[in-house]
Amino acid sequence: MSRLLVCSPDYFQIDYEINPWMRRANAVNPARAAGQWQALMHVLAHDVGAGIERMPPVEGLPDMVFTANAGIVAGRRALVSRFRYPERQREEVYFERWFREQGYEVLTLDKTLYFEGAGDLLGFPDTWFGGYRQRSDIRAFPRVGDLFQREIIPLELIDRRFYHLDTCFCPLSGGDLLYFPAAFDSYGQAVIAQRIPEDRRLAVPEEEALRFACNAVSVGKYVVIPADCPRTSQLLEARGYRTFAVHLDEFMKSGGAAKCLTLALD
Ligand code: ARG
Repeated sequence: MSRLLVCSPDYFQIDYEINPWMRRANAVNPARAAGQWQALMHVLAHDVGAGIERMPPVEGLPDMVFTANAGIVAGRRALVSRFRYPERQREEVYFERWFREQGYEVLTLDKTLYFEGAGDLLGFPDTWFGGYRQRSDIRAFPRVGDLFQREIIPLELIDRRFYHLDTCFCPLSGGDLLYFPAAFDSYGQAVIAQRIPEDRRLAVPEEEALRFACNAVSVGKYVVIPADCPRTSQLLEARGYRTFAVHLDEFMKSGGAAKCLTLALD
């Protein structure tokens, strides 16, 4: 069974602006956010059959709901994130505490080696890809690769709207890749093409990438994607995946959707 870490949106709001989606004037509707988050939890637990682990939210830390950025977990080891922006650095101690309390062996990086967890590190069982420049630092990946004994292929994120790798790149459990090619430079696109055969690359159209089509949760043959991405759903269904659409526009005000709201624990 797949286990996912989540954190409820009790204190979720737009208190600061650290990505181009966030505008303080565009306030979160707390009741709608809570409803959308509950609906996502329902799909993950009941339709997809994932195990849900909850960590307590903390007042004053509005982005803690985006647990993808807590760190990365492999086996019983957890590497805690080092956030680029001070606004989110205050989350690190809470994520670290949660991992320790759950009995993980906790690994950390130097304070100045920015690394934003599963938001910027994604992959297939043996090859991992690391998104850098906007949040994570490319210098973090050799260190993370050593810690986990994995090859990490760095991918530069060139479009400010796609500031974390998980906003434009989504490896699927069947070995396919859902992605938005224009978020990467020509070198990145060439590396992706070299590593993933053409018939396994599913390119999302820009208007759906902007509705966070790539910010999907993949569990076995199930893919949970943000609503209003019909062409992406079609691409996925044609490859044999079963899709579930969830409305998450309250979270998009902060620059996140389905995938960012979860952290894979295995
Ligand atoms: N407002 C949050 C930030 O800018 C959104 C994080 C979304 N997380 C993600 N994994 N893409 O940090």
